[in-house]
Amino acid sequence: MTSTSSREVVLGVTGSIAAYKACEIASLLVKRGVRVTPVLTESAQELVGAASFEGITGNPAITGMFAPDTNREIEHIAVATRADLFLVAPATANILAKAAHGIADDWLSTTLLATRAPILFAPAMNTNMYGHPAVQGNIGALRGRGCHFIGPDSGVLACKTVGVGRMAEPAVVVHAAMGLLTSRTQDLAGKSVLITSGANHEPIDPVRFIGNRSSGKMGHAIALEALERGARVVVVTGPAEVDPPAGCEIVRVQTAIEMCDAVLERAPQADIVIGAAAVADYRAGNPLSQKRKRDGEGLTLALVENPDIIARVGAAKTNGQIVVGFAAETHDLLQNAAAKLRKKNLDLIVANEVNTPESGFGTETVKAAFLDSSGRIDEQPLLAKRALAAALFDRILAIGK
Ligand code: C5P
Repeated sequence: MTSTSSREVVLGVTGSIAAYKACEIASLLVKRGVRVTPVLTESAQELVGAASFEGITGNPAITGMFAPDTNREIEHIAVATRADLFLVAPATANILAKAAHGIADDWLSTTLLATRAPILFAPAMNTNMYGHPAVQGNIGALRGRGCHFIGPDSGVLACKTVGVGRMAEPAVVVHAAMGLLTSRTQDLAGKSVLITSGANHEPIDPVRFIGNRSSGKMGHAIALEALERGARVVVVTGPAEVDPPAGCEIVRVQTAIEMCDAVLERAPQADIVIGAAAVADYRAGNPLSQKRKRDGEGLTLALVENPDIIARVGAAKTNGQIVVGFAAETHDLLQNAAAKLRKKNLDLIVANEVNTPESGFGTETVKAAFLDSSGRIDEQPLLAKRALAAALFDRILAIGK
C-alpha cells in the first residue's frame, strides 16, 4: 500500500443537513495521516462553521472564490493539480447537477472541473430527490466519466421520511476514500458490472415459500470489489442475509422470474454479467392465493422449472460482453462445472465446493477454481470471499485482452 502521509484530500462540504457529519470524516482522514483541505459551499456555511474544519484539519477552510484574507492565497488551479482525491461529502443534488453539466459558479464546482484527481461523491438528500430521473441521470453521467460514489444508505432522513438518501456513515465514506487514495487499481473504470446475488423465495401460499441457503456474501464481495476498482455496479438481489454494498444500484426481487426479468432488462447494457445468485430451480406451479390450512391430508406440491437466467444471458451475449457463472457442487466439481460452462455459453465459471465447513453457503471463505471456455483451469487456494472476488476480476480482465 502507498503511504497516505503525503496525500491530500480536498473535502468539499455542500449544503445538506448531513454537513455536520463531514467534521467526523475530516477527523477520521486526519487520523489516517491524510492532509485535508476543507471547502465549504455557501449553503454548507449556513449549516456548519469553517472554524470547526480549520480546527480539525489544521488547514484554512476555503469558503469562496473571492473570499477575503487567507482564501485569497488559495489558488484553485494549484489545489486542483496537487490534490490526490476530491471527496464531496455530503454531496447535494445541486453539486451533482453542476458537476454533471460542467457548471462552474463557485470554488468547489470550478475546481471539480479543473482537477484530474479521482472524485468521490457521498450523496445525501431526500428520497424523492435522490430517485428523481434528473438526479439519477446526473449520477449516471458522472459515473460514466469515472467519478466514484459511496452511498447513500437507507434510513430515517432529516425530513422524517424513511428511504434511500442518508449519507453513508463517515467511517464507510473514509474507507472508500482510503481505497482510492492508496491507489487501488481502477481497472474496471468505465465498465458496467451486473451481478445476481442471494436466494429466491418461491411462494407456496401468501405466507410460505420455498427458499435456499444463499447468504448473499459472495455477491456482496464481488460488488464491493467491482466498485472499488471503479466499475458501475448493478446488483439484482433476492432475499439474503447480507445486503449489497452501498454505492451500487440495488434491484430487489423475490422470485426467479422477477430476477430473470430484472436481469434480462439490464444485461444488454452490462460489460460483465456475473451470476452469483443461488437461483431457485423450481417454483410451485400454482401458488395458493389464500393461506393453506392443515386438513390432515398432507400437501403435495407440483413444482415447475424456473428459467435459467445466466444461460439466457449467455445465449443473448453481445459482442465483447463477458458472462460468468458459478457452479456450486458437492461432487465431480470440475466435470460438472465444465459442462455448465458449455451449456450456458459462459466465458468463465467459478466452480466452488459447497460441502465443507470452510467453503459453502454462509461461510466467509471459499475454495474454488476458475474454468474458461478454452479449457484452462485455475485452482484457487482457500480464500476469503473478497479475495476470491479480486482474483475473479483479474481473471475476467485477462479474458478481455
Ligand atoms: O445449473 P446451476 O444451477 O448449477 O448453475 C449455476 C449458475 O447458473 C450460477 O451462476 C447461477 O447463478 C446460475 N443460474 C441461473 N438461473 C437458474 C439456475 C442457475 O442464473 N435458474
